[in-house]
Amino acid sequence: MNSEWWKNAVIYQIYPKSFKDSNGDGFGDINGIIEKLPYIKSLGVDAIWLNPLYVSPQVDNGYDIADYRKIDPRFGSNEDLYHLIREAHQLNLKIIMDLVVNGTSDQHQWFKESCKSKDNYFSDFYIWKDAKEDGSEPNNWGSNFSGSAWEWNEQRQQYYLHYYAKEQPDLNWENPRVREAVFDLMHFWKARGVDGWRMDIITSISKNQNFPDNPAKNGEKYVVANQDNGPRMHEFIHDIDREVLSPFKMMSVGEAPASKSIDARQLVDPKREELDMVFTFEHMHIDRKPGGINGRWDVQPADIIALKNILSDWQNSLRDHGWNALYFENHDRARTPSRWGNDHEYRYESATAFATVLHCLQGTPFVYQGEEIGMTNPDFKLEDYEDVELTTNYHQFVEEQKTLSAADFLKAAHKISRDNARTPMQWNDAVNAGFSEAKPWFKINTRYPEINVTKDQESQKSVSNYYRKLIELRHQNLILRDVTYELKFADDPDVFVYERVLGKQKWTIIANLSEKTFDLSDYYTADTKTKVLLSNYQRQGSGLGDAALKPWEALVCEKQI
Ligand code: NOJ
Repeated sequence: MNSEWWKNAVIYQIYPKSFKDSNGDGFGDINGIIEKLPYIKSLGVDAIWLNPLYVSPQVDNGYDIADYRKIDPRFGSNEDLYHLIREAHQLNLKIIMDLVVNGTSDQHQWFKESCKSKDNYFSDFYIWKDAKEDGSEPNNWGSNFSGSAWEWNEQRQQYYLHYYAKEQPDLNWENPRVREAVFDLMHFWKARGVDGWRMDIITSISKNQNFPDNPAKNGEKYVVANQDNGPRMHEFIHDIDREVLSPFKMMSVGEAPASKSIDARQLVDPKREELDMVFTFEHMHIDRKPGGINGRWDVQPADIIALKNILSDWQNSLRDHGWNALYFENHDRARTPSRWGNDHEYRYESATAFATVLHCLQGTPFVYQGEEIGMTNPDFKLEDYEDVELTTNYHQFVEEQKTLSAADFLKAAHKISRDNARTPMQWNDAVNAGFSEAKPWFKINTRYPEINVTKDQESQKSVSNYYRKLIELRHQNLILRDVTYELKFADDPDVFVYERVLGKQKWTIIANLSEKTFDLSDYYTADTKTKVLLSNYQRQGSGLGDAALKPWEALVCEKQI
């Protein structure tokens, strides 16, 4: 069971660039993380996932890697990372690194060699195709960052494939040398103490070798390439398991953009020996207008019924067949109180209500830096954003396609842009929020004097103290692990209620995800057999008392049955 430590764990995600700058260059670094280990430990978490720290031109904030074995000097040195691993292990914190092997940076030596000719060792490390007769791209596949997924290379006189930025050429997983090279780099980090992997867009590594055009439903020129899992995906992932994960007992959580719960069941079923968990995207689309022509920028109010259906579907599908990875925030997602809650009047309540929903489900919860203090989206102007996805998408939808006005784009960016989560961590109310003594690489959220770690910990309404309690509940109660799950009030658009039962014990998790009051009394009368274990209002002890839920109220209740 020891090798399944992650089933009892809560994992804290660090975006190193924005976590803590220790050397005054405005850029977060490894020594900054070491400095904050006691704080991370104080939350009660069990492991840290580090976003990419490897050498990178930072076109996509480190997801464009130029050297898999070397730490980028702006974060420190390899020695600094080994030091961090040792210090974390001393505190019983495991270290999860990011494995980014759908593609590399175009500055990676492999790519530079691959460009040189069609017959060297690295020629087939990437996906090269000739131009069509008229010189155009081999098919209509589109990049996630807008435009074609093919880029012409003068040197080689061919197109190469890139699912994301043109500076991120996709690796050719059909080539056994590529697979070997990936296993090698995983062995390298295992030997240095890394405990597991978060695998970037791992479900996209296999490509349909017929390279067919994708159906263009709205007549668009390019259609985002990776809308399906590729044909050899399971096989390649199983190879990774056989070569690295199983023999070295490394934990794995795969990013699975196109996967439904039915695919996940295959990816994480222990019998199939692929992954431990996957990150679904489905629940993050509850505020995306279905059928919109502007991708993620066609935003609508969050559909809570959809949220309940999706999370329940994953709970039910994976029961006895695998394990869920639970998250609302990460470096690609906005801040929950601003996105789906109320980040002013009910910032504490809405942050903790969503946290309650998530942390009591079956699965391993992930907490993204700043989520635990209820950080909010910044009020940026267009020119303040820097994410490559946002800038390329702005160009596509506002300037070229003209299907979105600049004002509507900005409105959507305020809600869902990835940069919302990438502003520097707010440690205190000192200059630059205590993140750095120098000008930070990215604008600080102006609300830092009000929202920061020091202030939160001293507050009566402390989001982080609520997280500490949630994490402790999970650690101490088997009922929050792999027992039953039953959704109640499925059709109610505002409240999320579910029950979990273990033997004679029933826990009911109740969260009002709105500002409407909700009367629970028909279902839960004031009842001394019901014990309130946790709540984000003053409602502790026995009995539900007043059964009217207050705005964004959340409760964890226990009852003997
Ligand atoms: C997923 C990562 O989380 C995201 O930040 C990145 O842009 C894409 N993969 C491409 O690598």
